[in-house]
Formats: sequence, structure tokens, C-alpha cells
Amino acid sequence: MKRHILITGGAGFIGSHVVRHFVRKYADYKVVNLDLLTYAGNLANLCDVENCPNYCFVRGDIGDLELVRTIFREHSIDGVIHLAAESHVDRSIRDPFLFARTNIIGTLTLLQAAREAWEGLPPGERRFHHVSTDEVYGALQPGEAAFCETTRYDPHSPYSASKAGSDHFVRAYHDTYGLPVVLTNCSNNYGPYQFPEKLIPLCIRNICLNKPLPIYGKGENVRDWLHVEDHAEAIDEVFHRGRDGESYNIGGINEWKNIDVVKLLIRITDEELGRAPGSSEKLITYVTDRAGHDLRYAINAEKFRKELSWSPKHSFETGLRSTVRWYLTHEQWVKNVTSGAYERYYAEMYADK
Ligand code: NAD
Ligand code: TYD
Repeated sequence: MKRHILITGGAGFIGSHVVRHFVRKYADYKVVNLDLLTYAGNLANLCDVENCPNYCFVRGDIGDLELVRTIFREHSIDGVIHLAAESHVDRSIRDPFLFARTNIIGTLTLLQAAREAWEGLPPGERRFHHVSTDEVYGALQPGEAAFCETTRYDPHSPYSASKAGSDHFVRAYHDTYGLPVVLTNCSNNYGPYQFPEKLIPLCIRNICLNKPLPIYGKGENVRDWLHVEDHAEAIDEVFHRGRDGESYNIGGINEWKNIDVVKLLIRITDEELGRAPGSSEKLITYVTDRAGHDLRYAINAEKFRKELSWSPKHSFETGLRSTVRWYLTHEQWVKNVTSGAYERYYAEMYADK
């Protein structure tokens, strides 16, 4: 095998697309997926690649240093793409300690294992790619310039604070120990296999079930949406060709107010279900705003586009329509992940921590 890559969080939403992308595109790479399978991790997301000879799965915690050391040793890991995280802002408001443990201590553990394993080796042959978020930059006002890589970090939620903390550790390991790192900060993703607690899959599911569509505040908050497959391709590009020690912002220049996203989803989903146009608009329900709710995120991806070769393939409308179709044809997947079994696993797993 030409390379031996550890992908963390590969059973989650974005991670499963990244694993699929690498396993299929690089037959000469061994891909090791390390995932704890929390409520957000689901091996069904990977059933189409699970038997590929260049793929293997290890169930475990990124915060378990001995386990991570063993994986580096046994699989001769020379590249890491680190996606494992607690990722939902609303959960971070309820349990900030879990987010600090997974996102900060977990990342630190991986960095330390990589440092030990790669000490003294030529950096050109090693790479630690940390997958982060635009949320570390805080909130923009309408009309304010989009986030660029030099924008000051200003996180507001426990989630974004924990991701910011992990980004700082990644840079510290580069600057202090010379670990060959690269970071990407991406905007909101959407697409198949996203857990239906996030806005887009939650609304698709609720439209199908004729349940309320909860809009936080006035629905005026703005997010910059990118299809998850475009993100996976961007990660491939930065992992292979990004400059050592650099951060790259990734986004689709695709800003939408939440209420407009929900109205577009209603239009598409009603059409796909053969319902009268707009018949699900009555489901829109304004609810109490999220605490510390960032008003607007927008990504300036100029650096990435200038230095590297990438542009998104999915337009928002076609990407949303194919996503709606995916959810409508994967009812059983949605039922399984919302059955309560995942929530019970999650509760038991962390009950004593
Ligand atoms: P997700 O919640 O769908 O998946 C996270 C995965 O990590 C799950 O498979 C889970 O089982 C695993 N995991 C959690 N804790 C773990 C631990 N301690 N050890 C091993 N595995 C563990 O998340 P996602 O939306 O796919 O996000 C993936 C990454 O991308 C995260 O780092 C997130 O911050 C970042 N990101 C997400 C978005 C987005 O819109 N979803 C945007 C930009 C960046
Ligand atoms: P979300 O999908 O949770 O992603 P993030 O918080 O990482 O941006 O939320 C996207 C936007 O939608 C965000 O502004 C919060 C809002 N939102 C709602 O209005 N209602 C909901 O039920 C959810 C989950 C989110």
C-alpha cells in the first residue's frame, strides 16, 4: 500500500463520505476508520465499502492514548484525517464537558500519538489534517466581510469553543514540535447520512411526518451551505496538496437565511411527495431562540481556490433535491437512527464521566 491513513469519525456524517471517497479513489491506500460509534456514528453509513480490501474499522475513543498509539504502530499510519467530534451546538449547550473531552482532549491525544510515531521522520511523507469549522470565527453582521483565514477566533458556543481549542492545539503541535499539520475550516454541510437533529434533515423528516418545523428566533440567521461530497473532495485536495502548517477556509459562497432554506425545502419536499405546492408551510413554527445563536456565517474561500484546484459540483437547489430524495428513499435509515437505541447508548456511555 502506498499510504496508510487513519480517518477518525469515519462512521459519522462527513466522515463516512470522506472514507467512501478515499477507499474508492485510492485503491493503493489503506484506510483505517477509528470511530467510537456514539449516537452520531453508524456503520450502516459505510455498508457499500465495508468489505473493500483497503478498508478496516476500529471501534474506539480518540481520547484513548494507548489505543491510538497501537493503531499508529500496527497500521504504520502516515496520514491522519481527523473528523471525530461532538458536532451539535444544541447538545454542547447541554453538556459542554463532553465537548471539551472529545474535541479538545481527543484531538490532543491524536496529536501526541502522531508526534511520537513520526518523530525524526521526514515531514514530507507525513500529514495530520484537522477538520474544523467556520464557527470558530464567531458571528458576522449583515454586510460584514466573510471569514478569511486571518479572522480572529471568537467562538460563542461550547461547540465552537471546543473546536477553536482543538485548532489551537493543532497549530501548537506544528509550531512547537514540527508536526506536519494542515487545517480546514468549512461552512455548514448538508447531504445524505446527516443525523436528523441538524436543520436540513430534521426539516425533511418533519415535513414527511407532518410535524412542526422548529425555527429558532425569527429564522433570520444566515448559514453558508456546502454539499458534503464537495467537502470530501476539498479535504482530499488539502490533505494532498495543502501547504504545511496552513489553514484553508472551505465554503460554497452560498449564504441563506434559515427561513428561506426551510421554505425551499418545503417546496422541494412537497413536490417530491406529490403534495399541493406550499401545503407544508403551515408546519413552520417559530420557537425560542438558541442561546448565543450566531447571526451569520460566511466563508471567504479565495485562498483555497487560488492555491489549490477545487470548485463545488453541486448547486444548492439540485443538491437539496437529491438530498430530499435520499431521505425519502432511506426511511429505514432514519427510523433506525431515531429509534432511541442510539440515545440510550450515548446516555450509558457517558453516564459515569
Ligand atoms: P457527526 O456528529 O455526524 O459525526 C461525528 C463522528 O465522530 C461520529 O461517527 C461519532 O461516533 C464519532 N465520535 C464522536 N466522539 C468520538 C470519540 N471520542 N472517539 C471516536 N469517535 C468519536 O459529525 P459531522 O457533522 O460529520 O462532523 C465531522 C467533523 O467535521 C467534526 O469535526 C465537525 O466539527 C466538522 N465540521 C462539521 C460541519 C457540519 O456542517 N456538519 C461543518 C464543518 C466542520
Ligand atoms: P444546525 O443544523 O444545528 O447547524 P449549526 O448550528 O452548526 O449552524 O443549525 C443550522 C441553523 O438552523 C442554525 O442557525 C440553527 C437553526 N436551527 C433552527 O432554526 N431550528 C432547528 O431545529 C435546528 C436544529 C437549527
